[in-house]
Amino acid sequence: MVAARITVNGKETPIAPDAPHTFVLDFLRERGLTGTKEGCAEGECGACSVLVARPGVNKPTDWVAVNACLVPAAALDGQEIITSEGLATAGEPGLPPTLHPVQEEMAVRGGSQCGYCTPGFICSMASEYYRPDRCAHTDSASDADSAENADAEHGPNGFDLHSLSGNLCRCTGYRPIRDAAFAVGAPTEDDPLAQRREQAAPEPAATAYTQDGSTFLRPRTLAEATQLLRERPEAVVVAGSTDWGVEVNIRSRRAECVIAIDRLPELRELRVESDHIEIGAAVTLTEIERRLDGSVPLLAELFPQFASRLIRNSGTLGGNLGTGSPIGDSPPVLLALEASLLLADADGEREVPLAEYFTGYRQSVRRPDELIRAVRIPLPLSPVAAFHKIAKRRFDDISSVAVAFALEIEDGIVRKARIGLGGVAATPIRALATEAALEGKPWDAETVEAAAQVLRAQGTPMSDHRASSEYRAAMLGKSLLKLHAETTEAVSS
Ligand SMILES: Cc1cc2nc3c(=O)[nH]c(=O)nc-3n(C[C@H](O)[C@H](O)[C@H](O)COP(=O)(O)OP(=O)(O)OC[C@H]3O[C@@H](n4cnc5c(N)ncnc54)[C@H](O)[C@@H]3O)c2cc1C
Ligand code: FES
Ligand code: FES
Repeated sequence: MVAARITVNGKETPIAPDAPHTFVLDFLRERGLTGTKEGCAEGECGACSVLVARPGVNKPTDWVAVNACLVPAAALDGQEIITSEGLATAGEPGLPPTLHPVQEEMAVRGGSQCGYCTPGFICSMASEYYRPDRCAHTDSASDADSAENADAEHGPNGFDLHSLSGNLCRCTGYRPIRDAAFAVGAPTEDDPLAQRREQAAPEPAATAYTQDGSTFLRPRTLAEATQLLRERPEAVVVAGSTDWGVEVNIRSRRAECVIAIDRLPELRELRVESDHIEIGAAVTLTEIERRLDGSVPLLAELFPQFASRLIRNSGTLGGNLGTGSPIGDSPPVLLALEASLLLADADGEREVPLAEYFTGYRQSVRRPDELIRAVRIPLPLSPVAAFHKIAKRRFDDISSVAVAFALEIEDGIVRKARIGLGGVAATPIRALATEAALEGKPWDAETVEAAAQVLRAQGTPMSDHRASSEYRAAMLGKSLLKLHAETTEAVSS
C-alpha cells in the first residue's frame, strides 16, 4: 500500500508522522503553509478554508471549499488540495508571484485589512469562481441573463454571495469583499485550475493509516465497511466530519479507530425513480442541493438555512441523522416528507420509517454495526411545503425551533397534513395531533387558529440559552399562521 499522502499545491506531501486525529489545518501549518488560519477550530469562521478536488456535479472535477479545521488529514489521503499560497502562480526568479484573479480583486478593492480572514475568503471565493455553472461567459446572452438575475446577493457575474456565508471578517467590513466577489470575471482557457476540472477527481485511496496507537481506515465498499463495523463496533464512523471535527477539536474526543465512509460508492448515489427519490447518505448537502435543483421544494428551502456553504460542502444527511440530535435541521423536513432510512449491515439492509427511527435523546433504532446507506423520499410530493427555522441569526446558526410542513389542499380542504418538528422534544417528532386537527377541514383562518393552538402544545419544549420553552411553543403556533398567510396571499395575488 502507498504511504498516505496528500497532493498540496501540486506537491505530494506525506501525512506521517501526524496522528489520525490531526486535521488538515494543522497538517498544513506544520508544513509551513501558514496562510491557512485558525480562527475558531469549529467550522464557524472560514479562516481555514482550502480547496479540494472532488467529483464534480457538472464537470469531472469541482474545486470545493471546505473547512480545513474539521477534516482529518488522513481523510484526504490520495487527494489534491490547493491553499491560498497555491492560487498565485510563481513568477520569474526574483519576481513576486502573479496574484490569482480573486486575490487581485480583493487587493485592489480593499477587501483585506488585518488579513487574518483573507486566505479563507480567497479560497471560498475561488471555489465559487470555478463553479462551472456560475456564469458561462461564452456568449453575450449568458452574460445578459446573469446581469438580469443580479441582486444584492448575486453579482452580475453570477457570483453567489452565499458561497461566502461560512467566512467571517472582523475588521474590513463586507462591502469591499462583496465588490471584489462581484468583479471577478471568468477563468481563462489556460487557467490550470479551470483545466484541472476537465479531468476526473482523484479516486478515494484505500487508507489504513496507524500512528500513535490510533487507526484511520477507508474501506472501498459498503461490504468492507459493514464487515469492519461488525468486527470493531467501537469504531467511529465519519462522513463529512463537520460534527466529528468539532468533537475532536472542542470536546477533545479521540477514537482508537475511525472509519471513513464519505466516498463509499453505495452511499454516493442519488436516484429519482417514478415513486421515490433515493439520496445516498454520503452525498454532500451541496451536491443534493445542486443535483435536485429545486425539484423537492422542502429540501430547497432547507439547504440555504442549513449552516454555511462551507459546511454544506462536506456535511451529509447520513451525518445529520447519525448524530440523532433533536435540533438537526434535516429530520423535521424528512419527517414531513415521510422519508424512510435504509440501514445496512454485513448481512443486508432494512428500511425504517424516519418516524420510527429516533428512540430517545441522541438515540435511535440503528445498531452500532449498521450504517445509514440512503434516505428514501416517497413521490408524489405534497404541493404545499414550507420550512421555518427559528434561530438567533438568519444564516449559519443552530435552530431554536424548526418546523416543516407538507400539505395537500384540494378544493380548499386539507386532504393530507404532515408536520415535522425539531427543537421541541428529546427527539425530532411528527406533530400528529396538529395533523389530525387540519385533515379534512377547510384551509381557513378558523381551522388554522384552532390547529395553531394544538401545535403550540406539541412536544415538551425546554428553556435553554437559545430560547425559553414559552418562546418555542409560541413560535410553533406562529409558524402555522405564517404558512396560512403566505398560501392565502399567494392565492389572492
Ligand atoms: C459551524 C457549523 C454549523 C452547523 N450548522 C448546522 C445547521 O444549521 N443545521 C444542522 O442540522 N446541523 C448543523 N451543523 C451540524 C453538522 O454540520 C450536520 O449535522 C451535518 O449534517 C453532519 O454531517 P457530516 O457528514 O459532516 O457528519 P460527521 O461529522 O461525519 O458524522 C456525524 C455523526 O454521524 C455519524 N454518521 C455519519 N454518517 C453516517 C452514516 N451514513 N450512517 C450512520 N452514522 C453516520 C458519525 O458516526 C457521527 O457520529 C453544523 C456544524 C457546524 C460545525
Ligand atoms: S478555524 Fe474557523 S472555520 Fe476553521
Ligand atoms: S481583514 Fe481582518 S478579519 Fe478580515
